[in-house]
Amino acid sequence: MTVHRVTLIPGDGIGPEIMAATRPVLDAVSVEIAWDEQLAGMTALEEVGTPLRDASIESIRDTGVALKGPLTTPVGTGFRSINVALRREFDLYANVRPAKTMVPGGRFEDVDLVLVRENTEGLYVGFQHVIPVGDDPKGAAQSVAVVTRQGCERVVRFAFDYAVKHNRRKVTICHKANILKAASGLFLEVARDVSRAYAGRVEVDDIIIDAAAMRLVLDRSQFDVIVTTYMFGDILSDEIAGLVGGLGLAPGANIGDRAAIFEAVHGSAPDIAGCGIANPLALMLAACLMLDHLDETPAADRIRSVLEATLHEGQARTPDLKGNATTMGFAEAVLRRLG
Ligand code: NAI
Ligand code: MG
Repeated sequence: MTVHRVTLIPGDGIGPEIMAATRPVLDAVSVEIAWDEQLAGMTALEEVGTPLRDASIESIRDTGVALKGPLTTPVGTGFRSINVALRREFDLYANVRPAKTMVPGGRFEDVDLVLVRENTEGLYVGFQHVIPVGDDPKGAAQSVAVVTRQGCERVVRFAFDYAVKHNRRKVTICHKANILKAASGLFLEVARDVSRAYAGRVEVDDIIIDAAAMRLVLDRSQFDVIVTTYMFGDILSDEIAGLVGGLGLAPGANIGDRAAIFEAVHGSAPDIAGCGIANPLALMLAACLMLDHLDETPAADRIRSVLEATLHEGQARTPDLKGNATTMGFAEAVLRRLG
Protein backbone atom coordinates (compact mmCIF):
# COMPACT_ATOMS: atom_id res chain seq x y z
CA MET A 1 0.00 0.00 0.00
CA THR A 2 1.26 3.48 -0.87
CA VAL A 3 2.19 5.58 2.12
CA HIS A 4 1.18 9.20 1.51
CA ARG A 5 3.24 11.87 3.21
CA VAL A 6 1.11 14.81 4.28
CA THR A 7 1.93 17.99 6.18
CA LEU A 8 -0.58 18.60 8.98
CA ILE A 9 -1.16 22.09 10.36
CA PRO A 10 -3.71 22.08 13.22
CA GLY A 11 -4.10 25.88 13.05
CA ASP A 12 -5.60 28.40 15.44
CA GLY A 13 -8.84 28.77 17.39
CA ILE A 14 -11.10 25.78 16.70
CA GLY A 15 -8.41 24.37 14.37
CA PRO A 16 -6.84 21.90 16.83
CA GLU A 17 -10.32 20.72 17.96
CA ILE A 18 -11.65 19.98 14.47
CA MET A 19 -8.29 18.47 13.44
CA ALA A 20 -8.40 16.13 16.46
CA ALA A 21 -11.86 15.02 15.29
CA THR A 22 -10.78 14.58 11.66
CA ARG A 23 -7.57 12.57 12.10
CA PRO A 24 -9.22 9.44 13.57
CA VAL A 25 -11.69 9.42 10.68
CA LEU A 26 -8.77 9.30 8.23
CA ASP A 27 -7.12 6.63 10.37
CA ALA A 28 -10.29 4.52 10.15
CA VAL A 29 -10.16 4.03 6.37
CA SER A 30 -7.59 1.92 4.59
CA VAL A 31 -5.23 4.66 3.48
CA GLU A 32 -1.72 4.96 4.88
CA ILE A 33 -0.76 8.51 5.76
CA ALA A 34 2.55 9.56 7.31
CA TRP A 35 1.81 12.91 8.96
CA ASP A 36 4.37 15.64 9.37
CA GLU A 37 2.87 17.98 11.95
CA GLN A 38 3.87 21.65 11.60
CA LEU A 39 2.95 24.88 13.33
CA ALA A 40 1.64 28.02 11.64
CA GLY A 41 -0.38 31.11 12.52
CA MET A 42 -0.94 32.58 15.99
CA THR A 43 -0.09 29.25 17.58
CA ALA A 44 3.32 29.32 15.88
CA LEU A 45 3.86 32.97 16.78
CA GLU A 46 3.26 32.17 20.46
CA GLU A 47 5.29 28.97 20.53
CA VAL A 48 8.20 29.65 18.20
CA GLY A 49 8.12 33.42 17.68
CA THR A 50 7.09 33.53 14.00
CA PRO A 51 3.73 32.82 12.33
CA LEU A 52 5.28 30.96 9.40
CA ARG A 53 8.45 29.01 9.93
CA ASP A 54 10.78 27.92 7.14
CA ALA A 55 10.33 24.39 8.49
CA SER A 56 6.60 24.49 7.73
CA ILE A 57 7.23 25.71 4.19
CA GLU A 58 9.97 23.11 3.69
CA SER A 59 7.61 20.39 4.87
CA ILE A 60 4.94 21.35 2.31
CA ARG A 61 7.60 21.66 -0.39
CA ASP A 62 8.68 18.16 0.49
CA THR A 63 5.30 16.42 0.84
CA GLY A 64 3.43 18.49 -1.77
CA VAL A 65 0.21 18.04 0.22
CA ALA A 66 -1.09 19.72 3.37
CA LEU A 67 -4.22 19.45 5.50
CA LYS A 68 -4.58 22.74 7.30
CA GLY A 69 -6.76 24.10 10.07
CA PRO A 70 -7.89 27.75 9.96
CA LEU A 71 -5.29 30.40 10.76
CA THR A 72 -6.12 33.62 12.58
CA THR A 73 -5.13 36.84 10.80
CA PRO A 74 -4.86 39.83 13.17
CA VAL A 75 -6.98 42.77 11.99
CA GLY A 76 -5.27 46.12 11.39
CA THR A 77 -1.87 45.44 12.93
CA GLY A 78 0.36 42.39 13.20
CA PHE A 79 1.47 39.88 10.59
CA ARG A 80 -0.17 39.53 7.17
CA SER A 81 -2.34 36.58 6.23
CA ILE A 82 -0.39 33.31 6.34
CA ASN A 83 -3.01 31.81 4.03
CA VAL A 84 -2.08 34.38 1.39
CA ALA A 85 1.63 33.82 2.05
CA LEU A 86 1.23 30.06 1.48
CA ARG A 87 -0.82 30.64 -1.66
CA ARG A 88 1.93 32.90 -3.04
CA GLU A 89 4.81 30.66 -1.94
CA PHE A 90 3.38 27.64 -3.75
CA ASP A 91 1.55 29.47 -6.57
CA LEU A 92 -1.73 27.76 -5.64
CA TYR A 93 -3.67 29.08 -8.60
CA ALA A 94 -6.86 27.02 -8.42
CA ASN A 95 -9.26 27.33 -5.51
CA VAL A 96 -11.78 24.48 -5.62
CA ARG A 97 -15.03 24.69 -3.66
CA PRO A 98 -17.52 21.86 -4.03
CA ALA A 99 -21.00 22.44 -2.56
CA LYS A 100 -23.38 19.52 -2.14
CA THR A 101 -26.60 19.31 -0.16
CA MET A 102 -25.95 17.05 2.86
CA VAL A 103 -28.44 18.20 5.44
CA PRO A 104 -32.04 17.38 4.43
CA GLY A 105 -34.85 19.83 5.00
CA GLY A 106 -32.89 22.90 3.99
CA ARG A 107 -34.22 25.55 1.68
CA PHE A 108 -32.27 24.28 -1.32
CA GLU A 109 -32.33 20.54 -2.03
CA ASP A 110 -30.15 18.67 -4.52
CA VAL A 111 -27.39 21.22 -4.85
CA ASP A 112 -24.28 19.63 -6.34
CA LEU A 113 -21.89 22.22 -7.73
CA VAL A 114 -18.15 22.76 -7.94
CA LEU A 115 -16.72 26.24 -8.15
CA VAL A 116 -13.17 26.67 -9.48
CA ARG A 117 -11.82 30.14 -8.77
CA GLU A 118 -8.62 31.67 -10.09
CA ASN A 119 -6.56 32.32 -7.00
CA THR A 120 -3.61 34.57 -7.94
CA GLU A 121 -4.71 37.38 -10.31
CA GLY A 122 -7.60 39.70 -11.13
CA LEU A 123 -8.59 42.55 -8.85
CA TYR A 124 -6.86 40.93 -5.90
CA VAL A 125 -3.31 41.37 -7.22
CA GLY A 126 -3.19 44.42 -4.98
CA PHE A 127 -2.50 47.22 -7.50
CA GLN A 128 -4.36 49.85 -5.55
CA HIS A 129 -3.81 53.51 -4.75
CA VAL A 130 -5.52 56.32 -2.96
CA ILE A 131 -5.24 59.50 -5.01
CA PRO A 132 -5.39 63.03 -3.55
CA VAL A 133 -7.86 65.39 -5.23
CA GLY A 134 -7.51 69.06 -4.29
CA ASP A 135 -7.49 69.27 -0.48
CA ASP A 136 -8.88 65.81 -0.06
CA PRO A 137 -6.04 63.32 0.50
CA LYS A 138 -8.50 60.51 -0.30
CA GLY A 139 -10.37 62.16 -3.13
CA ALA A 140 -10.18 59.15 -5.37
CA ALA A 141 -9.05 55.55 -5.29
CA GLN A 142 -8.00 52.99 -7.82
CA SER A 143 -7.88 49.19 -7.78
CA VAL A 144 -6.60 47.62 -10.98
CA ALA A 145 -7.40 44.09 -12.13
CA VAL A 146 -4.62 42.24 -13.91
CA VAL A 147 -5.15 38.95 -15.69
CA THR A 148 -2.69 37.13 -17.89
CA ARG A 149 -3.29 34.70 -20.74
CA GLN A 150 -1.17 32.10 -18.97
CA GLY A 151 -3.03 32.64 -15.68
CA CYS A 152 -6.43 32.26 -17.36
CA GLU A 153 -5.30 29.25 -19.35
CA ARG A 154 -4.01 27.22 -16.43
CA VAL A 155 -7.08 27.68 -14.23
CA VAL A 156 -9.55 26.97 -17.03
CA ARG A 157 -7.58 23.89 -18.06
CA PHE A 158 -7.62 22.82 -14.42
CA ALA A 159 -11.44 23.19 -14.33
CA PHE A 160 -11.90 21.08 -17.47
CA ASP A 161 -9.43 18.42 -16.30
CA TYR A 162 -11.27 18.36 -12.97
CA ALA A 163 -14.58 17.85 -14.84
CA VAL A 164 -13.11 14.95 -16.82
CA LYS A 165 -11.53 13.30 -13.77
CA HIS A 166 -14.69 13.60 -11.66
CA ASN A 167 -17.20 12.68 -14.40
CA ARG A 168 -18.76 16.12 -14.45
CA ARG A 169 -20.85 16.93 -17.50
CA LYS A 170 -20.25 20.64 -17.96
CA VAL A 171 -18.13 23.71 -17.26
CA THR A 172 -19.72 27.17 -17.14
CA ILE A 173 -17.47 30.20 -17.61
CA CYS A 174 -18.61 33.17 -15.45
CA HIS A 175 -17.47 36.62 -16.54
CA LYS A 176 -18.38 40.28 -17.07
CA ALA A 177 -16.83 40.65 -20.53
CA ASN A 178 -19.65 42.96 -21.70
CA ILE A 179 -18.38 45.73 -19.38
CA LEU A 180 -14.85 44.73 -18.30
CA LYS A 181 -13.91 44.19 -21.92
CA ALA A 182 -10.17 44.03 -21.28
CA ALA A 183 -9.66 41.82 -18.20
CA SER A 184 -12.86 39.79 -18.21
CA GLY A 185 -12.80 39.78 -22.02
CA LEU A 186 -9.39 38.11 -22.05
CA PHE A 187 -10.56 35.54 -19.50
CA LEU A 188 -13.61 34.66 -21.62
CA GLU A 189 -11.60 34.48 -24.86
CA VAL A 190 -8.94 32.24 -23.35
CA ALA A 191 -11.55 30.07 -21.59
CA ARG A 192 -13.43 29.47 -24.86
CA ASP A 193 -10.14 28.58 -26.60
CA VAL A 194 -9.20 26.11 -23.88
CA SER A 195 -12.67 24.53 -23.93
CA ARG A 196 -12.26 23.44 -27.58
CA ALA A 197 -9.76 20.78 -26.57
CA TYR A 198 -12.50 19.15 -24.44
CA ALA A 199 -15.25 19.17 -27.09
CA GLY A 200 -17.25 15.94 -26.97
CA ARG A 201 -16.06 15.19 -23.44
CA VAL A 202 -17.24 18.18 -21.39
CA GLU A 203 -20.00 20.64 -22.34
CA VAL A 204 -19.25 24.33 -22.04
CA ASP A 205 -21.25 27.52 -21.84
CA ASP A 206 -20.76 30.99 -20.40
CA ILE A 207 -22.81 33.43 -18.40
CA ILE A 208 -22.48 36.98 -17.09
CA ILE A 209 -21.70 37.02 -13.41
CA ASP A 210 -24.75 38.91 -12.15
CA ALA A 211 -27.13 36.65 -14.08
CA ALA A 212 -25.23 33.68 -12.64
CA ALA A 213 -25.76 34.94 -9.09
CA MET A 214 -29.52 35.05 -9.62
CA ARG A 215 -29.80 31.78 -11.53
CA LEU A 216 -27.90 29.95 -8.81
CA VAL A 217 -30.81 30.72 -6.51
CA LEU A 218 -33.71 30.33 -8.96
CA ASP A 219 -32.67 27.49 -11.27
CA ARG A 220 -29.39 25.64 -10.90
CA SER A 221 -29.98 23.15 -13.73
CA GLN A 222 -27.61 25.08 -16.00
CA PHE A 223 -24.67 24.67 -13.61
CA ASP A 224 -22.28 21.84 -12.81
CA VAL A 225 -18.66 23.07 -12.63
CA ILE A 226 -18.19 26.86 -12.65
CA VAL A 227 -14.88 28.56 -13.50
CA THR A 228 -14.26 32.24 -12.89
CA THR A 229 -11.80 34.94 -11.86
CA TYR A 230 -10.84 35.79 -8.30
CA MET A 231 -13.39 38.33 -7.10
CA PHE A 232 -16.41 36.83 -8.84
CA GLY A 233 -15.38 33.45 -7.46
CA ASP A 234 -14.92 34.84 -3.97
CA ILE A 235 -18.53 36.09 -3.97
CA LEU A 236 -20.09 33.09 -5.75
CA SER A 237 -18.32 30.60 -3.50
CA ASP A 238 -19.95 32.08 -0.41
CA GLU A 239 -23.27 32.10 -2.24
CA ILE A 240 -23.04 28.40 -3.06
CA ALA A 241 -21.89 27.63 0.50
CA GLY A 242 -25.07 29.39 1.60
CA LEU A 243 -27.16 27.24 -0.73
CA VAL A 244 -26.09 24.09 1.10
CA GLY A 245 -26.31 25.39 4.65
CA GLY A 246 -23.37 27.65 5.36
CA LEU A 247 -19.68 27.68 6.07
CA GLY A 248 -19.75 24.75 8.52
CA LEU A 249 -20.30 22.45 5.53
CA ALA A 250 -17.93 23.99 2.99
CA PRO A 251 -14.53 22.44 2.17
CA GLY A 252 -11.90 24.04 -0.05
CA ALA A 253 -8.72 23.09 -1.86
CA ASN A 254 -5.92 25.38 -3.02
CA ILE A 255 -4.07 23.65 -5.82
CA GLY A 256 -0.92 24.46 -7.75
CA ASP A 257 1.49 22.45 -9.87
CA ARG A 258 3.89 21.80 -6.98
CA ALA A 259 1.63 21.64 -3.92
CA ALA A 260 -1.96 21.44 -2.75
CA ILE A 261 -3.41 22.67 0.54
CA PHE A 262 -6.77 21.39 1.80
CA GLU A 263 -8.83 23.21 4.41
CA ALA A 264 -12.29 24.16 5.61
CA VAL A 265 -13.58 27.41 4.13
CA HIS A 266 -14.46 28.85 7.54
CA GLY A 267 -12.04 30.64 9.84
CA SER A 268 -10.72 29.97 13.34
CA ALA A 269 -14.06 30.91 15.01
CA PRO A 270 -12.55 32.59 18.10
CA ASP A 271 -16.07 33.02 19.54
CA ILE A 272 -16.43 29.26 20.10
CA ALA A 273 -12.76 28.16 20.31
CA GLY A 274 -12.09 25.88 23.27
CA CYS A 275 -15.79 25.08 23.78
CA GLY A 276 -15.64 21.70 21.97
CA ILE A 277 -18.74 22.47 19.88
CA ALA A 278 -17.22 23.43 16.51
CA ASN A 279 -18.51 21.46 13.54
CA PRO A 280 -15.63 19.33 12.15
CA LEU A 281 -17.61 18.45 9.00
CA ALA A 282 -16.04 21.01 6.66
CA LEU A 283 -12.53 19.88 7.59
CA MET A 284 -13.56 16.22 7.21
CA LEU A 285 -14.90 17.04 3.73
CA ALA A 286 -11.64 18.86 2.97
CA ALA A 287 -9.78 15.71 4.03
CA CYS A 288 -11.93 13.81 1.49
CA LEU A 289 -10.87 16.26 -1.23
CA MET A 290 -7.30 15.52 -0.18
CA LEU A 291 -7.92 11.77 -0.55
CA ASP A 292 -9.35 12.43 -4.06
CA HIS A 293 -6.18 14.36 -4.87
CA LEU A 294 -4.08 11.44 -3.62
CA ASP A 295 -6.06 9.08 -5.92
CA GLU A 296 -7.74 7.48 -2.91
CA THR A 297 -11.27 8.29 -4.07
CA PRO A 298 -12.87 5.02 -2.83
CA ALA A 299 -11.81 5.92 0.73
CA ALA A 300 -13.00 9.50 0.23
CA ASP A 301 -16.39 8.29 -1.07
CA ARG A 302 -16.73 5.95 1.90
CA ILE A 303 -16.15 8.80 4.37
CA ARG A 304 -18.52 11.12 2.46
CA SER A 305 -21.33 8.57 2.50
CA VAL A 306 -20.84 7.97 6.23
CA LEU A 307 -20.85 11.73 6.91
CA GLU A 308 -24.09 12.05 4.99
CA ALA A 309 -25.68 9.13 6.80
CA THR A 310 -24.62 10.54 10.16
CA LEU A 311 -26.18 13.91 9.32
CA HIS A 312 -29.37 12.29 8.03
CA GLU A 313 -29.84 10.32 11.20
CA GLY A 314 -29.73 13.69 12.92
CA GLN A 315 -28.69 12.57 16.42
CA ALA A 316 -25.13 13.81 16.22
CA ARG A 317 -25.38 17.27 14.72
CA THR A 318 -23.38 20.12 16.20
CA PRO A 319 -25.10 23.34 17.41
CA ASP A 320 -24.54 25.21 14.11
CA LEU A 321 -26.79 22.55 12.51
CA LYS A 322 -29.36 22.92 15.31
CA GLY A 323 -28.15 19.84 17.18
CA ASN A 324 -26.45 19.48 20.55
CA ALA A 325 -23.54 17.17 19.76
CA THR A 326 -19.97 18.13 20.59
CA THR A 327 -17.13 18.14 18.07
CA MET A 328 -15.90 14.76 19.33
CA GLY A 329 -19.48 13.49 19.69
CA PHE A 330 -19.97 13.97 15.96
CA ALA A 331 -16.61 12.35 15.24
CA GLU A 332 -17.50 9.34 17.41
CA ALA A 333 -20.83 8.89 15.60
CA VAL A 334 -18.92 8.94 12.30
CA LEU A 335 -16.34 6.45 13.61
CA ARG A 336 -19.07 4.04 14.80
CA ARG A 337 -20.47 3.94 11.27
CA LEU A 338 -17.02 3.52 9.72
CA GLY A 339 -16.63 0.45 11.97
P1 NAI B 1 -15.14 32.40 11.02
O1 NAI B 1 -15.45 31.51 9.86
O2 NAI B 1 -14.04 31.97 11.91
O3 NAI B 1 -16.47 32.54 11.93
C1 NAI B 1 -17.70 33.08 11.44
C2 NAI B 1 -18.86 32.51 12.28
O4 NAI B 1 -19.07 31.14 11.92
C3 NAI B 1 -18.58 32.51 13.79
O5 NAI B 1 -19.78 32.78 14.49
C4 NAI B 1 -18.13 31.08 14.06
O6 NAI B 1 -18.40 30.65 15.37
C5 NAI B 1 -18.91 30.29 13.03
N1 NAI B 1 -18.16 29.09 12.61
C6 NAI B 1 -17.09 29.05 11.78
N2 NAI B 1 -16.66 27.80 11.64
C7 NAI B 1 -17.48 27.02 12.37
C8 NAI B 1 -17.54 25.62 12.64
N3 NAI B 1 -16.67 24.75 12.10
N4 NAI B 1 -18.50 25.17 13.46
C9 NAI B 1 -19.40 26.00 14.01
N5 NAI B 1 -19.39 27.34 13.81
C10 NAI B 1 -18.44 27.83 13.00
O7 NAI B 1 -14.89 33.86 10.44
P2 NAI B 1 -14.30 35.15 11.17
O8 NAI B 1 -14.85 35.27 12.54
O9 NAI B 1 -14.52 36.23 10.21
O10 NAI B 1 -12.73 34.92 11.26
C11 NAI B 1 -12.05 34.48 12.42
C12 NAI B 1 -10.57 34.35 12.10
O11 NAI B 1 -10.37 33.33 11.15
C13 NAI B 1 -9.94 35.62 11.52
O12 NAI B 1 -8.68 35.80 12.11
C14 NAI B 1 -9.81 35.32 10.04
O13 NAI B 1 -8.74 36.00 9.46
C15 NAI B 1 -9.55 33.82 10.08
N6 NAI B 1 -9.91 33.11 8.83
C16 NAI B 1 -9.07 32.13 8.41
C17 NAI B 1 -9.36 31.39 7.29
C18 NAI B 1 -8.43 30.30 6.90
O14 NAI B 1 -7.48 30.00 7.59
N7 NAI B 1 -8.64 29.68 5.76
C19 NAI B 1 -10.59 31.63 6.51
C20 NAI B 1 -11.43 32.65 7.06
C21 NAI B 1 -11.09 33.37 8.18
MG1 MG C 1 -14.24 34.68 0.51
